[in-house]
Order: sequence, then structure tokens, then C-alpha cells
Amino acid sequence: MSDFFSKEVENFYSTGIKKKHLKFQDIERIDRGFLNFGLWENGTRNYREAAANLLTMVIDNSGITSDARILDAACGYGTETFEIHTRLKPRFIEGIDITGIHMEFAQRKAHSLGLHEEIRFQRADCCNTNYRDDYFSALVAIEGPAHFYTKADFIKEANRVLENKGKLVLTDIILGKKFNWDKKFQVAVMKFTSKCWKLPRVNWIDEQDYKKLLKDSGFRLDVFNRLGESVFPGYAKNCLKLRTIRTRIFHRGFWAIMGMTFISYLLGYLQKKEMIDYIFVTAEKK
Ligand SMILES: C[S@@+](CC[C@H](N)C(=O)[O-])C[C@H]1O[C@@H](n2cnc3c(N)ncnc32)[C@H](O)[C@@H]1O
Repeated sequence: MSDFFSKEVENFYSTGIKKKHLKFQDIERIDRGFLNFGLWENGTRNYREAAANLLTMVIDNSGITSDARILDAACGYGTETFEIHTRLKPRFIEGIDITGIHMEFAQRKAHSLGLHEEIRFQRADCCNTNYRDDYFSALVAIEGPAHFYTKADFIKEANRVLENKGKLVLTDIILGKKFNWDKKFQVAVMKFTSKCWKLPRVNWIDEQDYKKLLKDSGFRLDVFNRLGESVFPGYAKNCLKLRTIRTRIFHRGFWAIMGMTFISYLLGYLQKKEMIDYIFVTAEKK
């Protein structure tokens, strides 16, 4: 099931890209290669700013120091990995992602910048890596965990590869305060969104379950912030702009973008109804 799901996720993120034979500089040009929802604060003018805001917030509040050995889990095209490297100057940083095309791009970029010794990338499943125990002092995962099969397996794997007192820093999606398992309509909309956006149903957990999962997997929670209102409405609004649609059609093709625009709308709707929320979490390995 894990392999099947990983393949589904990889297909989702590769759709349109291979077919259009995009050049690598095109990927960099479009959204700087970011794939997250962004943090839409007052005055945020566009997606690039929102994605950069999110990353800055994650780095500033991560508590990761400059001698760190970092795993960037589900790093996408690696844009955040390079940025974390520039900002924190860690001892080394490794980026992993399940989508081969993302890793190809990131590896080429590291080589072209002469950074391939310090910033390494490999295609891997975050729930089952080949790193030895205690290898990293910090693990960052921005928005990947929602897709992982399963989130619980990932948290256990994170605990295994982190050293004692190692830091886990992530952003993720949880069930919102008003989600009600007894309401058939809510469950049906969630089911549909999960199918479109590749969210395994076992990952539908709320704040309480999330905190329990971290605790039971050997983490001490430091920060648990709900950020949904600063994430989904801004992203959904931006996705409906003609300019965004036009640029992204160039990137992924017409049908992929129609699908993604619809998913963004759905996520915006679910957040507005408080059926989902976006969280920023930091925790320490006990
Ligand atoms: C929403 S994107 C976020 C990418 C990046 N962190 C960013 O903010 O730009 C989610 C990423 O998770 C990756 N992913 C999903 N499931 C994964 C898994 N099991 N192992 C590794 N990467 C995975 C996808 O390939 C995709 O690049």
C-alpha cells in the first residue's frame, strides 16, 4: 500500500511536467520552484512572497542552530533546502522527496552551484529511509506529511533518524475544530478532497490525536500553532487569479491546472468551514 500510494503521489506531482519537457530554468522561474501553500500575511503581494514568508517563519522558529545536520523531508524541488543552507549554514543538509523529477532538478542545481558536497538529494520515501539511527540533529518537513503513507510511520522514522534532543520541525494539515465524523456530507467532501490531493485517510487526525502521536512516538512538543486562516484563503484566492492560472498552465498543462485550481478552492472551503486547519509544529526527541 505504501508503494502504491507513493506512486500515486509521484504521478500527481509529475503530471504535465514530463509531457511538456520543461527546461530546468522554467521550473525555477515559475514560483521559484516552491510547492507549498504559503503564508499570506497583510501586504503579501504574490505567491513567491507567500512561499518565502512561510519558509522564513519555519526557519526563524525552528530553533535549529548552525552546526546542525539537517534532513529536509519532502523538499520538493529543493528551493527550501538551498534557502535553509544559506540561512543556517548547517554542517550538512540532505533533501529527500518521492518525486523523481524534483530530485533530478535539485541535484542538477546543487552541481551547477558547486554545492553538491554540502547539499545532497536523493529520491526516497520519508516513511522508510536508509539513514542510520541518530544520523541527524534536525528534521524539517514542510507540507509533505499530509501525503505520507502513513503520517504515524513518518513520525516514528523521524524519531529513529534523529539524535537525542534532535528537533522535528514541520507544517502539516489536520482536521479542523468543526469536523464531525457523524456528518456524512463533511466526510464525503473530505473523502473527495483527499482523493484529488492524495491524502491517505489514516492521516485524518485532529490536534489531540496529533499531540498524542508525537508523545507516543518519543517527542516532547514545543510549539503547536494553528495557521489555517493565514494560509488557505490567500492561496485559494491567488489560485483563482487569471495570471496565476495562465502561468501555471504553462508549467503543468491545462487539465492539471484546472484540477489544482479546483483542489485549492476545495481546501479553502474546508478551512472556512473549520473542517481542516494548517499547523506549524516543533518538537524535540525525548
Ligand atoms: C506540498 S509539496 C511541498 C514541497 C516542499 N516542501 C515545498 O514546500 O515546496 C509535498 C511534497 O511531498 C513529496 N512527498 C509526498 N509523499 C512523500 C513521501 N512519502 N516521501 C517523500 N516525499 C514525499 C511530494 O513529492 C512533494 O514534493
